[in-house]
Amino acid sequence: MARKKIALIGAGNIGGELAQRAMEKELGDVVLLDVMEGVPQGKALDLMEARPVDGSDCNVMGTQDYKDIEGSDLIIVTAGLARKPGMSRDDLLAKNLDIIKNVAENIKKYAPQAFVIVVSNPLDAMVYAMQKVTGFPHNRVIGMAGVLDSARFRAFVAMELGVSVRDVTALVLGGHGDDMVPIIRLCTINGIPITDLISKEKIDAIVKRTQMAGGEIVALLKTGSAYFSPAASAIEMAESYLKDKRRVLACAAFLNGEYGIKGYYMGVPVVIGANGAEKVIEAKLNDEEKRALLGSFEHVKTLVDSIKL
Ligand code: NAI
Ligand code: 2OP
Repeated sequence: MARKKIALIGAGNIGGELAQRAMEKELGDVVLLDVMEGVPQGKALDLMEARPVDGSDCNVMGTQDYKDIEGSDLIIVTAGLARKPGMSRDDLLAKNLDIIKNVAENIKKYAPQAFVIVVSNPLDAMVYAMQKVTGFPHNRVIGMAGVLDSARFRAFVAMELGVSVRDVTALVLGGHGDDMVPIIRLCTINGIPITDLISKEKIDAIVKRTQMAGGEIVALLKTGSAYFSPAASAIEMAESYLKDKRRVLACAAFLNGEYGIKGYYMGVPVVIGANGAEKVIEAKLNDEEKRALLGSFEHVKTLVDSIKL
């Protein structure tokens, strides 16, 4: 069986980390593309030289030429600017929209069959723009945010209780902004609700920290935003698609009436398999959760409506 082909558009912090994880997991041959001359080539060569140590036979190449992404099965897009201290994700809108439009035109031309995972911010608007410009079916364009936001929630709960992260399940829904919606009721330790184990004050603090977690890292790094956990999250989605695992992951998916929302992308649980974003799973939410989700949606809608695509 021929190896899968994975194109990574953007070879910055997340792009490089994605390439390493894809190579180590032998998910497929990797093409790293970036406008910065030498950077994708340098990272690719460095990774090729790590292969004998890792025992991975997947190839990694760097390029500026979109022709090299021809025939890609999967594309992960991280091209664009990242946040600096004091910036919100929304501050990236105008610059990253131009970049995403350009990337989308090239994906449409050179890899019309690919499944596309968008990571660039502001996420819910960028994934919307990617689908509009490529014209790909909605199941073949998806955004990464919910896996990361849920992982942050899980990490903080595991740290609080001193238990394995493996036993913490959590779901963060809504837009990838500070008004994202961690669903406390559905966060469990191997099935035991966290409300049985952690005080309300501490849970509220964990929820707040989850919502602000991106900014917490930006404030520490000062030169950019998180990249290890975003890459790990996008690779979890990629693996589910490439191996038809049908994982149920929180992702920015196109909504066609689910959760009372139509015509926009937003974070909800999705089955990811060989046909891409195969199905949105509708969790039954209580009134408070519904209100929070619709509040987060209003923010997404304002942003998306402002790009007029
Ligand atoms: P970075 O600055 O390290 O890398 C971005 C790369 O994109 C740079 O190498 C740059 O040269 C390249 N680029 C710029 N214009 C391009 C174009 N037209 N074509 C191809 N490449 C182009 O940034 P990093 O840390 O990798 O983050 C990437 C994006 O992901 C940012 O927009 C960031 O805000 C976003 N992000 C999203 C998260 C999410 O949960 N969805 C989490 C973390 C970051
Ligand atoms: C994050 O959540 C900034 O979206 C980026 O880390």
